[in-house]
Amino acid sequence: MRLLVPGGAGFIGSEFVRQTVANHPVDTVVVLDKLTYAGNLHNLDPVAGHPNLSFVHGDICDAELVSHLAAGADAVVNFAAESHVDRSLEAPGQFIQTDVYGTYVLLEAARRAGHGRFLQVSTDEVYGDVAEGASAETDPLRPRSPYSASKAGAELMVWAYRASYDMPVVVTRGSNTYGPYQYPEKIIPLFITNAIDDLPLPIYGDGSAVRDYLHVSDHARGIDTALRFGTPGEDYNIGHGGETSGIEVADRVLAALSKPASLKEHVSDRLGHDHRYALDTLKLRALGWQPQVGFGGGLEDTVSWYRDNEPWWRPLKSGEFWDFYRRNYKPLRAATGQVS
Ligand code: NAD
Ligand code: TYD
Repeated sequence: MRLLVPGGAGFIGSEFVRQTVANHPVDTVVVLDKLTYAGNLHNLDPVAGHPNLSFVHGDICDAELVSHLAAGADAVVNFAAESHVDRSLEAPGQFIQTDVYGTYVLLEAARRAGHGRFLQVSTDEVYGDVAEGASAETDPLRPRSPYSASKAGAELMVWAYRASYDMPVVVTRGSNTYGPYQYPEKIIPLFITNAIDDLPLPIYGDGSAVRDYLHVSDHARGIDTALRFGTPGEDYNIGHGGETSGIEVADRVLAALSKPASLKEHVSDRLGHDHRYALDTLKLRALGWQPQVGFGGGLEDTVSWYRDNEPWWRPLKSGEFWDFYRRNYKPLRAATGQVS
């Protein structure tokens, strides 16, 4: 297969590319990436120079570029997105532009190219807050943040292209993902890198919101399974099956780094904070996939990776990173009117 992989220089996309190059040596991969603050060509260093891999620096909203690239592809696997909920709360416009409009541009180019599969990488967050039980693929989409609404908007366009043009689309909905090469704004890499530097770990609200943390290698394998063995027109949940609170993430990271509990700091809660996501993954498991990395071991390995790879993440925690950080994190005591 000739794969076009928008967003392949990001966290999950680059793992998918590294796996594809290793596991499918006859496939060719073209990565299209805008290299936003979250994109990083160093994520592809382990496969740089591979004869079956090429990189194009560009925007999925650029219809001319995208139609040129889609014309030579057997499949499009779309990872490209603005992906951080807190940034979507501050400035939703770019999320609508990339996640919704950009997905439309890719779909239209794939339709005109007239062949091949279109896999849209979506998220469990499109189901919205799940008080109990687990979301099945048949459940309604009830997104609650600008990020998840943009991802749901993208999905609806994918389903429209399926219904209208009979395109062979597949959608995956993955749960919260962690592992090497994750930009240090999501909770796990942020807490690890802050703890390494003896900085506070900012816990939103009371820290009781739970997520189902999935290792990036399991997520990327799940996407590959859905791409190659999934049925066109179907959607597949990808999750590990755990429920870990923000407090527990902090405790585990601090324990792994032998740092004191005093680094935990409760800050103002996220606006509209979804308290819980949970996925039923039977449909993907029926295709032969199952997670291989347990959360405990996976988190310890991830802590080790960040400890051993400071040259990768330290340059990212500068400039714009701290500008956003200062805007986003308001200590609880400031929010409640106490002196900070
Ligand atoms: P990421 O932010 O690490 O990477 C996104 C990549 O897309 C970056 O390389 C960025 O440069 C690129 N990009 C952004 N806008 C672009 C544009 N307009 N044109 C071309 N490239 C552009 O994100 P991630 O965590 O790797 O997530 C990848 C996908 O998986 C996203 O679609 C996200 O919604 C989804 N997802 C993420 C998680 C998670 O926990 N991280 C969970 C489920 C689903
Ligand atoms: P995050 O990693 O941003 O992923 P998402 O919002 O897409 O699920 O957040 C995961 C959980 O961790 C969520 O309940 C919010 C919480 N959280 C904190 O408590 N502090 C933080 O600094 C961040 C980024 C997240």
